[in-house]
Amino acid sequence: MKKYFVIGNPIDHSLSPKLHNHWLTINNIKAIYDRKKINEADLRSIISQVKEKKINGINVTVPFKKTVIPYLDQLSPEAEQTQSVNTIILSNGNLVGHNTDIAGFTKAIKALNFNIEGKKVFILGAGGVVPSIIFALKKMNVSQIIVSNRTKKKAEDLKLRFKNLEILNWGDITDFDVIINATSLGLNEETINLDFSKSINNKLFYDVIYNPAETNFLNEAKKLGNKTENGRLMFIYQAFEAFKLWHGIEPQINSEVLKILNND
Ligand code: ATR
Repeated sequence: MKKYFVIGNPIDHSLSPKLHNHWLTINNIKAIYDRKKINEADLRSIISQVKEKKINGINVTVPFKKTVIPYLDQLSPEAEQTQSVNTIILSNGNLVGHNTDIAGFTKAIKALNFNIEGKKVFILGAGGVVPSIIFALKKMNVSQIIVSNRTKKKAEDLKLRFKNLEILNWGDITDFDVIINATSLGLNEETINLDFSKSINNKLFYDVIYNPAETNFLNEAKKLGNKTENGRLMFIYQAFEAFKLWHGIEPQINSEVLKILNND
């Protein structure tokens, strides 16, 4: 039986096994998808098992999307540009790293009734997923991208990879059409300490977090009359793209799949 894993640390919260196993079952594919909590020192050995065909594919999550790169033979152009890998596949004997977060974010935005082209986008955070979001936004021709992160150095580092980024001090706020929370604030009860009360109407507030389904960030924005969206579709679409790479099949996205991603 074919074996697939998502590796990360922590990993208990990951809903990837539920989603992939559902798609495997309904597509009659004899395979199993599991989660594995690893340390950085385990990366070499687990990746080598893909080369030896003991494992057929790996999803990579926080904090290994970059540190996994030295163990691979090849990167897709998107993974190369973002230095971020979330899907590994063996292709013609080569370990290839892909980045399906980019397509995940792009498809999630396109599914909204919101034209992002020419818009001014303000990103909170500079962690693992942000290079993929910036890459996708640039492809969708937004007019401006502003990044603010608690640790300013990490935002500044993004400027080395992406041209025309603007950096704002953490705690400062700017005018925007779209704001994206890409920090981990909201996973618990923590709130983002910014005053959005002037950001009324027709702005898009997007949270990468999907569990809880509505963070305080989204809840407050909604009360002010803005459009809001959580990261659920982005998560589903990145998995969809990984599934397509591994199995050559586009899996179904329907209400049953959306239900899987709801809180247990
Ligand atoms: P990593 O930073 O390892 O890539 P991540 O989960 O991808 O991890 O990113 C977490 C993001 O949430 C970072 O932008 C982080 O800011 P720092 O770079 O300053 O760590 C942000 N974050 C986490 N806790 C935060 C807090 N209490 N206040 C503000 N930002 C926070």
